[in-house]
Amino acid sequence: MPAIGIPAGGGNKKYPGELTPYVTVTCIVAAMGGLIFGYDIGISGGVTSMDSFLLKFFPSVYRKKNLDQSSNKYCQYDSQVLTMFTSSLYLAALISSLVASTITRRFGRKLSMFFGGLLFLIGALVNGFAQNVWMLIVGRILLGFGIGFANQSVPIYLSEMAPYKYRGALSVGFQLSITVGILVANVLNYFFSKLEGGLGWRLSLGGAMVPALIITIGSLVLPDTPNSMIERGDSVAAKAHLKRIRGVEDVDEEFNDLVIASEASMKVENPWENLLQRKYRPQLSMAIFIPFFQQFTGINVIMFYAPVLFSSVGFKDDAALMSAVITGIVNALGTIVSVFGVDKLGRRALFIQGGIQMLICQIGVAAAIGAKFGIDGNPGELPKWYAIVVVLFICAYVAAFAWSWGPLGWLVTSEIFPLEIRSAAQSVNVSVNMLCTFFVAQVFLTMLCHMKFGLFIFFAFFVVVMTLFVYFMLPETKGIPIEEMSGVWKAHSYWSRFVDNHDGKCDGIEIGKSY
Ligand code: BGC
Repeated sequence: MPAIGIPAGGGNKKYPGELTPYVTVTCIVAAMGGLIFGYDIGISGGVTSMDSFLLKFFPSVYRKKNLDQSSNKYCQYDSQVLTMFTSSLYLAALISSLVASTITRRFGRKLSMFFGGLLFLIGALVNGFAQNVWMLIVGRILLGFGIGFANQSVPIYLSEMAPYKYRGALSVGFQLSITVGILVANVLNYFFSKLEGGLGWRLSLGGAMVPALIITIGSLVLPDTPNSMIERGDSVAAKAHLKRIRGVEDVDEEFNDLVIASEASMKVENPWENLLQRKYRPQLSMAIFIPFFQQFTGINVIMFYAPVLFSSVGFKDDAALMSAVITGIVNALGTIVSVFGVDKLGRRALFIQGGIQMLICQIGVAAAIGAKFGIDGNPGELPKWYAIVVVLFICAYVAAFAWSWGPLGWLVTSEIFPLEIRSAAQSVNVSVNMLCTFFVAQVFLTMLCHMKFGLFIFFAFFVVVMTLFVYFMLPETKGIPIEEMSGVWKAHSYWSRFVDNHDGKCDGIEIGKSY
């Protein structure tokens, strides 16, 4: 029986408190942690299509691209070292997100955010001054460490700070700043690529210092979340803080629930082992499947390689970078749809609609590329309308991702974990995300070279699977207080078997009823 969504406020609890200016500003500042991630995603693709960059660090790719005009377009950029440049960061992020788990839990969300900004800052410096490939790679590893820390802590921070009714909108702020970061990077690449003598790529890579400074300084001025304060034994201050955040005096019910959650959390000695318990199977499954599916939408093929892809379908270098700016704008605007829709329409509706739209577009792109490039990758002269059709399909695809799997991939995973496993489970989420990003980044150019237009069908297949997965396996989480979330699993026709159901009723959600 499908798990249909629970209506808003499906749980019994309705904590008092509104969207105060204080919490709004705090969440906006924290959400800027997404900027560093976004900036990097946007910068790498553009930089790797700049001639001065290729000539200095990857001369063989440069030769293949510029001198051998007859070579197969599908294989133009297929270079292991070049992909290693892009993807090394993701392995580093994977490792650091595991370390961040302990820091976030023991010392608070803010400290992880701070480390995130600082490491990213150093990485940006090393990259901006890079003299050889190894400096580039070391710089990227540092950037990766930074991203691992930030992505582990920022989504948790936002989910805990936000009043439950607005949790979706405030948490999507993280994704919004990822997309703003990507867009700014795309625009900068466009202008910097015109600078002579290698200054362009140095400014693009070194420019990462700006978002790094924003989150480093931001983390110093932000307050801690009440959940984390209680978890670390500072209940008195936490209660006063909760009153301030919610803008009301009557926070007893929410506060007591946080205390109960933190008591359970304090009993846990080894959060990793704890995560493996049967009762956490639904959350652990989501921490693995959601990021896996998010990456297998194939979004980063577009994000990293849009300029490369666009130049393959016939745009000149400059126009290819410009098209990346266009997809960047679509990405940011699409995310705004999510900010306003996620707490009204719910997570499931966005996931499912987005999946269907992405599927249609992927089939469209595969057909368009297949029709012109065929199997040998030699399209001959490409008409202008053709490149425009491809860009339109890609824009519709990016928009769909931007209001579905993009923000929800970070939001849903940050709101479903009970406090006692929250930090560890979020690290699993980040690690799987980074591992899959690494995989896609590392093999995309090789896959394009071998699977040709079939590559888009490959990702379309996953989009079908993930949409069915959401339909059958993911309960609706909108409007449910974060410490009340266990009820959605108990009420789910499949997941309920993993969670204790003694009283036939939990958190106000009736068991046996199909949601
Ligand atoms: C994903 C990134 C992706 C970005 C695009 C994020 O949610 O995690 O991998 O590049 O969205 O906007």
